[in-house]
Amino acid sequence: MSLDLIIKGATAILPGPDSKLVEQSIDIGISKGKIAELNSTISSAKGPVLQAQGLHVLPGLIDTQVHFREPGLTHKEDFETGSKSALFGGITAYFEMPNTKPPVTTYDLLQQKYDLSKNRCHTHFAYYGGSIGADFDQLSKMEAHPNSPGIKVFMGTSTGGYLVDQDEILDLILKRTSRRLVVHAEDETTLQARKYLIDEDPHPRSHYKWRNEESAIKATQRILSLAKKNNRKLHILHITTAEEVEILKQNKDIASFEILPQHLALAAPECYERLGTLAQMNPPIRDKRHQDALWKAVLDGSVSVMGSDHAPHTLLEKQKPYPESPSGFPGVQTTVPLMLNFVNQGKLPLTRFVELMAENPKKLFQIKNKGRIEIGGDADFTIVDMNEERILENSWIQSKCGYTPFAGMKLKGWPRIVILNGEIVLQENELLKPSKGQALEFNF
Ligand code: DOR
Repeated sequence: MSLDLIIKGATAILPGPDSKLVEQSIDIGISKGKIAELNSTISSAKGPVLQAQGLHVLPGLIDTQVHFREPGLTHKEDFETGSKSALFGGITAYFEMPNTKPPVTTYDLLQQKYDLSKNRCHTHFAYYGGSIGADFDQLSKMEAHPNSPGIKVFMGTSTGGYLVDQDEILDLILKRTSRRLVVHAEDETTLQARKYLIDEDPHPRSHYKWRNEESAIKATQRILSLAKKNNRKLHILHITTAEEVEILKQNKDIASFEILPQHLALAAPECYERLGTLAQMNPPIRDKRHQDALWKAVLDGSVSVMGSDHAPHTLLEKQKPYPESPSGFPGVQTTVPLMLNFVNQGKLPLTRFVELMAENPKKLFQIKNKGRIEIGGDADFTIVDMNEERILENSWIQSKCGYTPFAGMKLKGWPRIVILNGEIVLQENELLKPSKGQALEFNF
């Protein structure tokens, strides 16, 4: 059989005999956008060769939490710039959040995002529907969209002021949905009651004292008990406290959860003193005790997914005095190099990172043909150089916001080549093809 491309000489991360991910030296043959051959050596006579000695081939990495701001907030980001930033960062597919302007609360608004994405996205894409607990017929219609991963709710106010804070409404949403409900868990009542802390010390260091542990723990407990009552499954986003990790470990059958690289890489109070509002996000960066617990959850297997929560705002917006400054910062381009640097520091195995950003998103959300290097799978790959070492610079950031709070860090381990649908689309930070992304499909 002739092949369209052969990736030769690399170490790949793929399922081993007991389906656990392993590192293996293997050649990969691609035909018609699919993985067609996996062999210890594939003859170069069969097709064009990409020499990849010394590199690691990962399944195309999937970021299940980004905010690309389109429609309505495109001065911060749009699908083109957001997906370009993703691609440069070694991400081949994203799930995007519904807190745009207007928020995505109807099927037509959801479909509009897919229409707007056509021929503009540099990676594959999927959009969550959102709910404010108003029109339940629309909720069911959005949930049935074949290219959507499901429904997301915010229990605490964040960007967009788009909120469901009452148990009665959350209960109705759970009753009207059948897929895993995706949740931002911060308790709005607790947040409102603690706002006085900002008046006492209007500095970003107040952010994690205002949005304290209790606000996160309480919301997670509330949504867990509602899910139990309704026999529904959850995916809880960006977990930040040691206590929630313990609770969620006891409730694995009901809820999966996500951890972000920024909660692993930054800690309070240092990050607020050094970065000011650039470190402001929801739920907030907390202190070392929580960071240690999150690392433990990454290593012991209890966390399922890593997302970036890429939430860009312009520098001008971020430079407003706290608390007028908006919460959130970019991350879709920096997640892979940050985490590869941790791999190089011996803090986690590369296979576990791939599990968090490819294998588990695939399984949890039942993404079709992505997230795993196997015969018949789509030929999307993130090829990384674990030995490359360089400084992370703002000038590398492709997001409209043009900065990263991690600027100046020396990182070892970088994405080098990205393959999408069997074609090399990015190599050595050069975009080689026009936008080739397609809507993701799901096995529901
Ligand atoms: O800090 C945040 N910013 N947290 C969120 O949940 C939303 C995000 C945004 O959209 O800006």
